[in-house]
Formats: sequence, C-alpha cells, structure tokens
Amino acid sequence: MAAEEDWVKIVTAKTPTNIAVIKYWGKRDETLILPINDSISVTLDPNHLCTTTTVAVSPTFVEDRMWLNGKEISLAGERYQNCLREIRKRASDVEEEEKGIKIAKKDWQNLHVHIASFNNFPTAAGLASSAAGLACLVFALAKLMNVKEDQGQLSTIARQGSGSACRSLYGGFVKWIMGKNEDGRDSLAVQVADEKHWDDLVILIAVVCSRQKETSSTSGMRESVETSLLLKHRAQEIVPKRTLQMEEAIKNKDFSSFSRLACADSNQFHAVCLDTTPPIFYMNDTSHKIISIVEKWNRSEETPQVAYTFDAGPNAVLIARDRKAASLLLQRMLFHFPPGAETDLNSYVIGDKSILQDAGIKNIKDVESLPNPPELKDANSIQKHPGDVSYFICTRPGQGPTVLSDESQSLLNPETGLPK
Ligand code: DP6
Repeated sequence: MAAEEDWVKIVTAKTPTNIAVIKYWGKRDETLILPINDSISVTLDPNHLCTTTTVAVSPTFVEDRMWLNGKEISLAGERYQNCLREIRKRASDVEEEEKGIKIAKKDWQNLHVHIASFNNFPTAAGLASSAAGLACLVFALAKLMNVKEDQGQLSTIARQGSGSACRSLYGGFVKWIMGKNEDGRDSLAVQVADEKHWDDLVILIAVVCSRQKETSSTSGMRESVETSLLLKHRAQEIVPKRTLQMEEAIKNKDFSSFSRLACADSNQFHAVCLDTTPPIFYMNDTSHKIISIVEKWNRSEETPQVAYTFDAGPNAVLIARDRKAASLLLQRMLFHFPPGAETDLNSYVIGDKSILQDAGIKNIKDVESLPNPPELKDANSIQKHPGDVSYFICTRPGQGPTVLSDESQSLLNPETGLPK
C-alpha cells in the first residue's frame, strides 16, 4: 500500500429493527453480552423502520470516526471497540483494480474507518434503535472488509454491540440461542422462518407519550439479575418451554398460540421489572389501557385477533393476525386515542393500500364518527384519551440487512469520506 494513495472505498447498508416476542432480559456475561435465556423476535420491515449506515476506508483517514444522525459521536466505548476489533480480525484481502485499491488482510489493522449512521425513525420516539444500529454497523463493516463469515457468525459480533442487535441480522422470525460456551461462540442468531412464511401479519406500533426518563435496558437487566428471584425462575423454568412453543406456533402459523405466548411473555418481563429492587416501571397508564382494550376485544372474539408486546418503554407493539384484524384494531385505537389534526393518514400504507382505507377512514373527520367497539357494553369502558398516543406506525415482518448499491444513498461523500 503506497503512502500517496488517496482512494476511498465505501459501502452502504440498510438494516431492520426487531421486536422480541420472547424477551431477552438478563446477562450471564456483561462484556461478551451472553444472555441467561433464548429469545425470539420478529424483524420489522426496513421500509418502515431501519438504520442506514455508510462505512468508508481510506489510507488518508487518520482515526476511526463516527457520525450518528448527523452528529459526530465517540467510538471509544467498549462495545464499539469490541465490534471493530472482531470485524478487523476477520477481514480479508480486497482488490479493485479500476480504482487502484489493493488492501492486504494485514493492512486492515492500520487502516481507519469512517462511519455515518441514520435512523429513519425519530430517536425521541423511544423505539429501540440500538438493535438496528449495531447490526448495521457490523454488517456494513463486514462487507467493506470482505469478511467471509456467514450471518450467524456476524450475529456473534453484533451481539457484542447490543444483545438484541444479533437478531437484526436476519429477516422474518429469529431466535437468539443463548449458547453454553464461555467465549460466546455459540451464542448466536438463527432464522426460524423468513418474512414470506407468515406474511398475513400486520404490526401497529403505538408511540405513547411519556414524560418519564426510562432506565436503560442495560442497567435495568443488571438490576433484575442481581435482585429478582422471578427472573431466575423465568430463565430456568419458563422460557425454555415457551421458546419451543413459540417456534412451533411460528412454523405452524398458529396465531392463537403465538398471541397467547407473546402477551404472556411481555407481561412476565414487566412483572420481573416490578420484582426488581428498586422496581422498574417501563409501561405507563396508556400502555395499561392498550392492554385492556386488546384483551377485551380478543376475549369477545372466537380466537385472538391481536398480540401485544412492550419493550423497555411504554410503546405498544401490536401484532394483528391479518389485514382485516389490523384495520379493526386501528379503528379501536383511533377511537380511544383520537389523533391530532396534523396526523398524516398516508402513513398507514401496507402493500399498495392504506389500512385506514380498509377501515373506511378517508380523512381525520371520519375518526370522530367511529362507532363504539361492540365489545364495550358497559359505558365506563367507553373512554377517549386524546393526546395519550403521539402517533401510530404501521408495518409488517420484513427482510434482513441489505447492501445499497446506489451511490445516491451513501451518507458519506465518496471523494472525501466525510458526511454529505
Ligand atoms: C426489553 O439489547 O437493548 O428489548 O444487550 O444491554 O444492549 P443490551 O440490551 P438490549 O436489551 C433489549 C431488551 C428488550 C428485550 C429484547 O429485545 O429481547
């Protein structure tokens, strides 16, 4: 590699976020990020929620640098450093004759990278961005450095950035196997089924207003491991059986079991949070109202129509069995949580049609005349809470990480390697 070389090699990738339906909560190794139980997630369609990351390498770069949503951030943290080290270790030769790029395996140790990352959803919404972010960082760097390992191996690296990130390396339905080894080499993600397997499902995320500063997942789960006996019981006795049942439910597209297991697991995770000393409250009154609405509706039907699950925050992730159920769910949600006049009704498009159109809602005025949901016989349950939900995001199970070959999607300038 000659010193006068001034090429810039660039890769851009797009990676989805995921929502756990069997939760990861608790580590047995804090540095390697090894969990105390298996977990299962649904990958969310990256066309609705995703992280885009551009990584660049050039002999002219003097240090590793990163920009997140346009702002430079430090890469000094242990988790970033572990991911960078593990990817560099696995780098291979790269040769692009037409650009005069020739990088030998050993050169990667001395070359610096620039990283720019962007979430297409507001970070302030409290939606997990670390899973998509760390998975995208690892995936994009692996492509840049010509790492030959498969997605499962890459997931063991993403895991060291943030546990839930390992599940974002696959689309569809993904299991994070906790593993047994002390070095974490068998703690990795595997795909249970791809996104086409069960494409009836429609997912509605209620972004709930919250004034409260939440405990981070990392410190919350540490406190639970230290103090909650319920967590011990959950990890040893409950989750192993539940994981097998959930895998079966997914493989058989058995929505009744899927919904029962997902709701029970979310509720148990939040019970563990309450069982932690001092107790941790992630859900708020609005989250509880959403649970009641869904429970009441599900019980009034022959089979469950919707599953709910909540991560380390008050937002509800509602998984409807099909489009019809999603449209009825959205009607119920808009009935109880009327949106502001500025709401963009175009944001509910799934496929080529809006879920709102399915529900017969053409403009915001139609929301005011929505009928009472039939299961609400007693007048006390007919309550409206305008402003409690900021907005809804409509999505569905989606694909895993992809490389974006169109240069216009790059977040770094191809000449300078600096943010555009
Ligand atoms: C409640 O992956 O954010 O979302 O490994 O410390 O980075 P770290 O934690 P993180 O925890 C996610 C917890 C959860 C459940 C889940 O995604 O399985």
